[in-house]
Amino acid sequence: MSPRKFFVGGNWKMNGNKKSLGELITTLNSAKLNAETDVVCGAPTAYLDFARQKLDAKIAVAAQNCYKVASGAFTGEISPAMIKDVGATWVILGHSERRHVFLETDELIGQKVAHALSEGLGVIACIGEKLDQREAGITEKVVFEQTKFIADNVKDWSKVVLAYEPVWAIGTGKTATPQQAQEVHIKLRDWLKTNVSEQVAQSTRIIYGGSVTGGTCKELASQHDIDGFLVGGASLKPEFVEIINAKH
Ligand code: PGA
Repeated sequence: MSPRKFFVGGNWKMNGNKKSLGELITTLNSAKLNAETDVVCGAPTAYLDFARQKLDAKIAVAAQNCYKVASGAFTGEISPAMIKDVGATWVILGHSERRHVFLETDELIGQKVAHALSEGLGVIACIGEKLDQREAGITEKVVFEQTKFIADNVKDWSKVVLAYEPVWAIGTGKTATPQQAQEVHIKLRDWLKTNVSEQVAQSTRIIYGGSVTGGTCKELASQHDIDGFLVGGASLKPEFVEIINAKH
């Protein structure tokens, strides 16, 4: 048995409306979810309050991004203080879409991680290589570098979940094989052991993201170093329940 509690996050991205998300929430609230799994739903900013009010208390709510300071003249941004104010407790940071569509740098992501943690939010910190980087054989180098920028900004690892999301697998229907994912996860755990501590390496959840479905989740979940998932497309469907329950 893994000492780490299984963790499944849904990332709704910029999808849904009150009607469709309300229906999804009704499905999740009435489903039998394994109590041994931490479940978090990442709602669009406009629906954070709505999601928190409607979702059962056993399901946590995450924002999909935040800024690095508490308030001020930053048009369009939201702060961890605001996220907490509406009852959400997590934030997804460094998602590949933030990195590659909105050109967020490792440095900015690190600053956001530091501020979100200092405000008491849990952080789902995302890393992952692009296809050309995998093909060039530099997957390890890329994910270690991204992890370092995150790790340099973490004091309390109990509030951090590391999400390994190969960019080529996100939204493509091309899930990494359980072996491909496990191989990177164990290297990340080794990196934590060498660069942070043995205790942090053993206790930190390293979750996988990239086209996880009801069909692929069980075998992925059976890998020793895969401690859960970050799920995009399938988190908007009733199938998300199967993924939450993948481990047991
Ligand atoms: P996907 O997205 O499951 O739709 O591939 C995963 C993610 O971006 O977190």
